[in-house]
Amino acid sequence: MERLVSGIKPTGGLTLGSYIGAIKQFVELHKNYETFVFVADMHAITTPQEKEKLRQNMKDIVAVYLACGLDPEKATLYIQSENPYHAQLSWILECHTYLGELNRMTQFKDKNQKQGDKNLSCGLYTYPVLMASDILLYDADVVPVGDDQKQHVELTRNIAERFNNRYGNTFKVPEPIIPKAGARIKDLQDPTKKMSKSDDDSRGCILLLDSEEVIRKKIMSAVTDSDNKIIFDEKNKPGISNLIMIYAALNNLKVEEVEEKFAGYNYGSFKSEVADAVINTLRPIQEKYKEIINSQLVEDVLDKGVEKVIKIAEAKCREVQEKVGLGR
Ligand code: AMP
Ligand code: TRP
Repeated sequence: MERLVSGIKPTGGLTLGSYIGAIKQFVELHKNYETFVFVADMHAITTPQEKEKLRQNMKDIVAVYLACGLDPEKATLYIQSENPYHAQLSWILECHTYLGELNRMTQFKDKNQKQGDKNLSCGLYTYPVLMASDILLYDADVVPVGDDQKQHVELTRNIAERFNNRYGNTFKVPEPIIPKAGARIKDLQDPTKKMSKSDDDSRGCILLLDSEEVIRKKIMSAVTDSDNKIIFDEKNKPGISNLIMIYAALNNLKVEEVEEKFAGYNYGSFKSEVADAVINTLRPIQEKYKEIINSQLVEDVLDKGVEKVIKIAEAKCREVQEKVGLGR
């Protein structure tokens, strides 16, 4: 069976974007792949985090993974930092990554530009290498991610190929899996940027645990245009295009099918249908989440998960250290 590896940073409540771009794929794919899904807490601390919140977010993510339908018998769930080999391999890979490569990472460039010279951490800069280590440690065949992470998976492939060329075949070269609909869900208030949990204007971002009332309000007040036609045109109609994409992704439809279905609707009634679709998707997830978050299940699943992944990672790390010449 081929292997799937992916993770999410516990930097805030999960969003509709991370559900559509990532979690939905994990759930669909995990029946056909040996699946490793983790909480990327070491990635989270690349920007300052409050300890208590970080821990709560980690638990929440695991409860949401389970509530969305990841079967703990089929998928291995774990906390990244509980397996020390991620950091161990990351250092070795950093020594095989070029500055020029990291300088080209658009996510870092964007953050750097936004914050100017305000004390960005070195971790934020080298973070794509830690991500490569998360993936290569387990010889992943596929990595389901949203569009914003594609460049990091490409870097991972380059590092793997470089290492294999120099030391002989060591790592699987992984393929990214990017969803056809919803690879980049946009902010509802500013549909030119990605929906993101760290944004200050929370009205543009739907959290998976938002109440029905809040979800409806956010969608009904989504920024659109004055054209009043349900047509997909990302350049000229980014707001409506985003709502079409959300509806398409949640109902496994093509964009054209959504356009056809809602031809003749006005924006108000279309938005109301999108709100229903989001609420109907999230309601059962929220109900399951409530059952799971206060049960012992999260702890049990994580204990079992880390035990399994440490064994795999240790063997891979030994092999790498041996090839590079580290230790005696
Ligand atoms: P993060 O929450 O930043 O760790 O992202 C977790 C996963 O969700 C990654 O695979 C991202 O690419 C994906 N993701 C996050 N935000 C969005 C979005 N707005 N649209 C689509 N995918 C997203
Ligand atoms: N960098 C990803 C994000 O910010 C999260 C992540 C960390 C990840 N390590 C990974 C995703 C390995 C896939 C595979 O969204």
